[in-house]
Amino acid sequence: MSKGKLAKFVDMASYPHVFEYPFSVVEDVPFALKGQWREQFFKNQNPIVLELGCGRGEYAVGLARRYPDRNFIGVDIKGARMWSGATESLRDGLTNVAFLRTNIEIIDHFFAPGEVQEIWLTFSDPQMKKATKRLTSTYFLQRYRHFLTDGGLIHLKTDSNFLFTYTRYVVEENHLPMEVCTEDLYRPTPSQTHPLTSPCEEGGELPLTAERKSACLIHSTPLSHRVAREEEVDLMSSSPSDPGLTPKPRTDWQGGESDGSLDLSIRTYYEQQWLDRGLSIKYLRFRLPAEGELHEPDVEIPLDDYRSYNREKRSSLKTSK
Ligand SMILES: C[S@@+](CC[C@H](N)C(=O)[O-])C[C@H]1O[C@@H](n2cnc3c(N)ncnc32)[C@H](O)[C@@H]1O
Repeated sequence: MSKGKLAKFVDMASYPHVFEYPFSVVEDVPFALKGQWREQFFKNQNPIVLELGCGRGEYAVGLARRYPDRNFIGVDIKGARMWSGATESLRDGLTNVAFLRTNIEIIDHFFAPGEVQEIWLTFSDPQMKKATKRLTSTYFLQRYRHFLTDGGLIHLKTDSNFLFTYTRYVVEENHLPMEVCTEDLYRPTPSQTHPLTSPCEEGGELPLTAERKSACLIHSTPLSHRVAREEEVDLMSSSPSDPGLTPKPRTDWQGGESDGSLDLSIRTYYEQQWLDRGLSIKYLRFRLPAEGELHEPDVEIPLDDYRSYNREKRSSLKTSK
């Protein structure tokens, strides 16, 4: 029988690698590990990678297993979900992974300038109603800047066309260096493998309508940086919606380890759900320079129509800023 929430909370409170600081308890109290994660907790000088909105922590734990020379911290406000990854990593004796239960809105409370090298956003809620709640909004990017190294990597893996498109606009609007951009991580279309000239690349030349903007997005990644090249991405051996068949990324393809990036093949709980429904997985990777004003893009983006929850509350709007 699976554990109840209360039992999970009791477990979590005793775990040495779980730190629980929801908004309600933090306020102005300094966090002892801020600036000290490596020295005091991980006891090494390896880079720190955050998974924000980690849910059950599959990415944080999966990467920790594959990359013992890096440190991983899964962050989420939902303790019962986090319990899965926290329990598994403890059971398996992984010493390079920790969990922080808090609101990402106050994430800069926990890390000192330059303390984090990389951020992963895995199947983040698209937050179609409010831009400031989106984890790739300038609101959050400003917070990440407080602790991410200059030019640190941000990865977004998502099912949501809305969040993907929105993030693309944020990147374009602010001229952030885009490294990888694909609408279908596992099955690149022929158009993704062609050399592309990019209206978006050149900045300021984006077509005006949302549809045209959206349509140009996949064509706008600098050729040299596209992950979705035939030589880099293996086609899946089966359709994601094929029951019983697991899509197989090439074993030598680790999201391009040669350029230092981490494994893209890990499937989180949500990723598997979306794959099972036949949805394509989108992936974006960009760098966040420490300097430069950030502007929120003023665009309308078609809403994801397959997300049924809360739809009636969203009035009749088909797009959102
Ligand atoms: C759709 S789930 C994805 C979970 C996991 N990454 C996966 O792929 O299975 C989004 C997660 O982000 C967390 N989350 C969203 N906004 C958050 C915030 N502002 N602060 C903390 N956690 C947040 C939620 O609690 C939830 O667990």
